[in-house]
Amino acid sequence: MKKIALALAIAAVSTLMASDGAALYKKCAACHGAKAEKKALNKSHVIQGWKADKIVIALKGYKDGTYGGAMKGLMKGQVASYDDAKIKAVSEYIAGLK
Ligand code: HEC
Repeated sequence: MKKIALALAIAAVSTLMASDGAALYKKCAACHGAKAEKKALNKSHVIQGWKADKIVIALKGYKDGTYGGAMKGLMKGQVASYDDAKIKAVSEYIAGLK
């Protein structure tokens, strides 16, 4: 029983983490800025002010290779490990930045 309770607790914690957009955005801030206010590496559009839907389309597009410019390979690496739930969470977080 104890083992099951522990496994459930771990599952609950990792679900929480996966939906934490702020934590997911941490590594993105290095290039896009803490408030998404920068042109990443002076190449990307400024994504501050983008609607969550538009960001989801861009990120899924980077993942499957249907979106992006000259540096889309770099962004593909950034989101390769993000599943749909994480992409949604980080997109909603960015859409709320001001
Ligand atoms: C090493 C720097 C770097 C990091 C880290 C990074 N990005 Fe980017 N991002 C870029 C560059 C450069 C582009 C433009 C790529 C291209 O040519 O399409 C871009 C493009 C984007 C775009 C589309 C904007 C456009 O110009 O169409 C979104 C949305 C985005 N990034 C979100 C994210 C998110 C979310 C993360 C974190 C998971 C992240 N980025 C991490 C450099 C970075």
